[in-house]
Amino acid sequence: IKQRSIKTDEELLEIESALDITSEMHKLAMLNTKDGIVEQYIVGLIEGHALSQGRRLAYPAIFTINGEILHSNVYTNKMRSGQLVLNDSGAESPLHYASDITRTFPVNGKFNATQKDIYSIVFNMQEAAFTYCAPGKSYKDAHLKTSSIAVEGLKSLGIMKGNVSDAVTAGAHALFFPHGLGHMLGLDVHDMEGLGEDIVGYDDQYNRSDQFGLAYLRLARTLEPGFVITVEPGIYFIPHLIDQWESEKKHLDFINYDALRLFRNFGGVRIEDNIVITSDGYRILGPAIPRTLDEIESIMS
Ligand code: GLY
Ligand code: MN
Ligand code: MN
Repeated sequence: IKQRSIKTDEELLEIESALDITSEMHKLAMLNTKDGIVEQYIVGLIEGHALSQGRRLAYPAIFTINGEILHSNVYTNKMRSGQLVLNDSGAESPLHYASDITRTFPVNGKFNATQKDIYSIVFNMQEAAFTYCAPGKSYKDAHLKTSSIAVEGLKSLGIMKGNVSDAVTAGAHALFFPHGLGHMLGLDVHDMEGLGEDIVGYDDQYNRSDQFGLAYLRLARTLEPGFVITVEPGIYFIPHLIDQWESEKKHLDFINYDALRLFRNFGGVRIEDNIVITSDGYRILGPAIPRTLDEIESIMS
């Protein structure tokens, strides 16, 4: 684990070579998605592109209008104008290093006002997370900071309420952000997962929490130069989970269940990038892939 946690220059080149193909896959998806197309068709295009370059996918693509289903591998939906689609897919390098990128975009190429609101919160969460990506900072702190940006954003929409840091301490935000901020990336997409996530992502200083949400953070420990990690915040509206929490009257001080009803069928947004920790911060690996609202609307037009 000690050896594999610090990526050499040769390994970084492999991951960036995977990302060259991944960036083309994501642009292909944006360029070809439109009203009336079935998800499977785009999955075929992106996986076919990897295969045509002598590559394969690093993990089964998640490509779905139901972004709130975190690991959906069902591609049977006909995509409709007005919906968002979430594309979490990445190619492997020739030596089988992984890449792991998520973009979420509107089927018809233009975000509506609500989609812009939620997307902007996730974008701000990712930007805030990046500022914590430096040697000596812990990824648990990055996760918690990101969670507080989610609460602030959701408060501004009336979906959450109350004191931000109390909400995060209580875990109320996890209704909308129920997974971890990210994980190590390398030969495995969740790198070294098979060796045991707790000994890869945690150490003497950090124990895994048992709180819903924080418990699923795969990487908590202090970042070191050479770590390659994903930064993947998201906001999801999961009807089953909302109903469960509401019936249990969970976190009534922080969640406005009435306001939430309007967002029930929204789906989910995730933005995921791959970075290396450098001596004084971080560097985003691979070519730029449309990420801002404007960049996505521009390529799709
Ligand atoms: N694609 C799986 C993950 O983002 O962790
Ligand atoms: Mn990931
Ligand atoms: Mn992913």
